[in-house]
Amino acid sequence: PFELELTRSKKCVTVGTNETVLSALGNAGVPVLASCMEGVCGTCEVSVLRGTPEHRDSLLNDAERAKNDRMFVCVSRSITDKLVLDL
Ligand code: FES
Repeated sequence: PFELELTRSKKCVTVGTNETVLSALGNAGVPVLASCMEGVCGTCEVSVLRGTPEHRDSLLNDAERAKNDRMFVCVSRSITDKLVLDL
């Protein structure tokens, strides 16, 4: 599990091992638009302010991944214990 800190919503959300960041956000009342649920369409992009996402999408190239400034929450997770998101 890892934590999400949502700066604009002022919420902290735990993401369990069996749920996606997208579903954890929705359950916390911070829904993010999504479409493909497979990391290919880009609809669910979220800005990352701190922390290191575990990128599982098929959209970002290596240089974009290394910036750690955005993620696709339908599939991607976290390497760090916490991600701070611009939500
Ligand atoms: Fe398509 Fe996440 S919903 S990339």
